[in-house]
Amino acid sequence: MRMYDIIEKKRDGQELTEQEIEFFIDKYTSGEIPDYQVSALMMAIYFQDMTEKERATLTTAIVQSGDQIDLSQIEGIKVDKHSTGGVGDTTTLILAPLVASVGVPVAKMSGRGLGHTGGTIDKLESVPGFHVEISSDEFIDLVNKNKVAVIGQSGNLTPADKKLYSLRDVTATVNSIPLIASSIMSKKIAAGADAIVLDVKTGAGAFMKDLNEAKELANAMVSIGSLVGRKTMAVISDMSQPLGNAIGNALEVKEAIDTLQGNGPKDLTELCLTLGSQMVVLANKANDLEAARVKLEESLQNGKAFEQFKIFLRSQGGDDKVADDPSLLPKASIQKELPAKTSGTVSSIIADQIGTAAMMLGAGRATKESQIDLSVGVVLHKKVGDVVEQGESLLTIHANQEDLEAVSEKLYDSIEIVDGNVEAPVLINDIIT
Ligand code: URA
Ligand code: CA
Repeated sequence: MRMYDIIEKKRDGQELTEQEIEFFIDKYTSGEIPDYQVSALMMAIYFQDMTEKERATLTTAIVQSGDQIDLSQIEGIKVDKHSTGGVGDTTTLILAPLVASVGVPVAKMSGRGLGHTGGTIDKLESVPGFHVEISSDEFIDLVNKNKVAVIGQSGNLTPADKKLYSLRDVTATVNSIPLIASSIMSKKIAAGADAIVLDVKTGAGAFMKDLNEAKELANAMVSIGSLVGRKTMAVISDMSQPLGNAIGNALEVKEAIDTLQGNGPKDLTELCLTLGSQMVVLANKANDLEAARVKLEESLQNGKAFEQFKIFLRSQGGDDKVADDPSLLPKASIQKELPAKTSGTVSSIIADQIGTAAMMLGAGRATKESQIDLSVGVVLHKKVGDVVEQGESLLTIHANQEDLEAVSEKLYDSIEIVDGNVEAPVLINDIIT
């Protein structure tokens, strides 16, 4: 087999065979096929697309390029959730204990964040004592005993994806549905998920800014999942403005605690119930989405989800008193309100710009090596559609720096206030099963 022929075939719009796809992934991972040939193939795929079968084959080949996590010692159907990324996305911190509280095993492998705010592990580490440095045996025992545990990333998962993604990044081929879909799905499958719930974000703060593209990506991933035997569902949710009110690590932990006690922001609570219902159905813990939702709502109301969160923190060394008293979380030295310059209705809060402001405060990493400040960030008091009076606080800045001029400027630039009525954006645009 020759890479040249594979490139030519795809260039001319033909379907690649399983052998051809496995050949190029295999030989590219081992370094036997050079970047320039794979670049040409990526560009051919960008223009010619891939069939559903090719996409599934590509995903499996990427999974097989490295290690796979074996979760077979954990009882039940392991459901993983993946978000295509947003600003102030606190859902994992809430969903993990919430669905665990109704019997869904959550065996979560997580990473540290790059960009706006930290990742799930960074956020959890704002709870004093909490750590993810546990052995894989301990991880499996904890999930069997408590239904939920989080472990740091380890092993050589999907090395082909790492190479492909870096190459696509510099060859203008990131934005291709078959390539994105196989990249995301391969990572979830290699991490051991039996079933997958996808939260595909759309809007100004999302990777897929356009709703139709978001739907196309969601459909592509659901199709790959079903072809490779991992049941997959997707929700298309709004990321034109930040989700919930808090953006910042410890601030988001507090928001998660509020939500688990039934006092969370409406949008964040709704999205967690929507995604959670899918996880419960895929884990066979309810017959349909409505029955699943009733279970989750009960668990929020009767305190079971909140209790599960405390068990989870304790079992990984965390101080569970934080759950009853969030003032024990890291706290910034300065709290400053941002007053509205005019009266009117909030018409937009550009999510990625708010994310940039949070980074300027130190909440996120610019590079993998940066240190982050867990205490800083922003808490919104107004969302799109809310009426505001001149001088009323739009948000609170939590900072450890005196000079907040540039950050305030950035925040003012990202919030628009207009005269007249504005509808709040639709939160759940579509559900794909
Ligand atoms: N996120 C991924 O993990 N892969 C892509 O290709 C794009 C976004
Ligand atoms: Ca949030």
